[in-house]
Amino acid sequence: MVRNLKKRDSWASRLGIIMAVAGSAIGLGNFLRFPAKVSANGGGAFMIPYLISLLLLGIPLMWVEWTLGRYGGGFGHGTAPGIFHSVWEKNRFIKYFGVIGIFGPLVIFIYYTYIESWTLAYSFFSLSGIISRLSDQKAMQSFLSGFQGIEKNQYFNSLGYAYLFFLITFILNISVVYFGIKGGIERVCKIAMPLLFVFAIILFIRVLTLRTPDITRPTWNIYNGFGFLWNPDFKALKSAKVWLEATGQIFFTLSVGIGVILTYASYLSKGDDVVLSGLTAVSINELAEVILGGSIIIPAAFVFFGPQQIQSIANSGVFDLGFVTMPLILNRLPLSTLLGFSWFFLLFLAGITSSISLIQPAIAFLEDEFDLGRRKAVVIFAIIAFLLCQFPIFFLNKGVVGELDFWGGTFFLVIFATVEVFLFGWVFGMDRAWDEIHKGADMKVPLIYKYIIKYVTPLFLIIILSAWLIQEWLPTILMKNVSPANRIYIIGTRFSLLIIFLTLVVMVKLAWRRRKLSQS
Ligand code: ALA
Repeated sequence: MVRNLKKRDSWASRLGIIMAVAGSAIGLGNFLRFPAKVSANGGGAFMIPYLISLLLLGIPLMWVEWTLGRYGGGFGHGTAPGIFHSVWEKNRFIKYFGVIGIFGPLVIFIYYTYIESWTLAYSFFSLSGIISRLSDQKAMQSFLSGFQGIEKNQYFNSLGYAYLFFLITFILNISVVYFGIKGGIERVCKIAMPLLFVFAIILFIRVLTLRTPDITRPTWNIYNGFGFLWNPDFKALKSAKVWLEATGQIFFTLSVGIGVILTYASYLSKGDDVVLSGLTAVSINELAEVILGGSIIIPAAFVFFGPQQIQSIANSGVFDLGFVTMPLILNRLPLSTLLGFSWFFLLFLAGITSSISLIQPAIAFLEDEFDLGRRKAVVIFAIIAFLLCQFPIFFLNKGVVGELDFWGGTFFLVIFATVEVFLFGWVFGMDRAWDEIHKGADMKVPLIYKYIIKYVTPLFLIIILSAWLIQEWLPTILMKNVSPANRIYIIGTRFSLLIIFLTLVVMVKLAWRRRKLSQS
């Protein structure tokens, strides 16, 4: 087996890696995507497929990724090509499946960072008082469209502000990673995560103590707001779509199947616990998602917009929820400037702790497989990612973000998770895998998970994949839901993604050839 003797970076503390993994998991998905999904998919009934997916997919994949990452790190590999190769050395092709573990995070990073930069911009706009002067839905909506460069209006006549905040956000992300695992990522997450919880708890308490703004409508109250979100509609469970949405949310929110947890775990030492740490990261994410994320935006919107409008608000999409509805609500409360800042800065902290995790796989790949120094690796990444980020910035309303999200953040995730769990349970072998999980473990994994990981999780993944293929494959390939005017942009995006993927495949080939030559 090839051992890379180069000294790799490492975590300074156990708290550090837990905060970093939880930071990667807690993102815009927890505070925007989750409440929107719950209200659109059967309310409280949605929690049934959600919890089943958490137990049979989310938690097992978390353990698999922590364990495989730590294992591969022991051979000097921090990304999936090398980690998969360490597990199945005899197979010449498995390392190419690992390309997804670098491709996926890079693709998500391309659009995620831009959206994250809006949250920083809106934090600034809140503090400056501009947002509190926008009093109705129309004004708030056109402020957002002007900012995004979709229209020229009295608020913005160019993309200038959006571009400026994108640059600041991009540079911040790159700087964190430039300082490495313990000097950059760990340090930032240890500060950002507690701060994120402080802002979330302030908003949570504020929403819980909301009074009906109009005494002639006493039913527009916070209890009914919670009732709207959580009262179960069990009929929804008959729809396959609701089950797919729930599993998709588990993948997205836990950041599993992407490749980032593999990379983070590769900086652990052999005897570091992965069982309790992995479970702790999941629990922190679920607390932020179900308790905090599920209590802020939708219940508050109910109080201000009432039962007639709430359904259309909940279905208006995550951007409108976050950047139009929420500031309108906060504007009607005392201290709206500070509350607005708390909301957007909370989203920014959630975003940046996720986006830095999306950068690290590419950096680790260049460092581990091409022996580049961190600085060089970061500069190369920054140049390439910067160029790619121009797509969502300039073609935002051409469907580019949705396209990147489908391939990078949805489709390949399921394929990648299926490969990982197959490698772990079937190639590595469940008995060996069980020993590996428990090295240095502070708690035992319940025995039933030995069978869940081997049989249930792969079966579950294959069912999801098949359902997706049946429902979405053909319309997606044929661009059925894309307007004719946007088709050219979607084709351009797909072509660029193909080029990125093939470049990574060639790089893996070169890295392995290099390694072979240096051994002979
Ligand atoms: N897990 C991250 C989120 O929820 C990507 O936004």
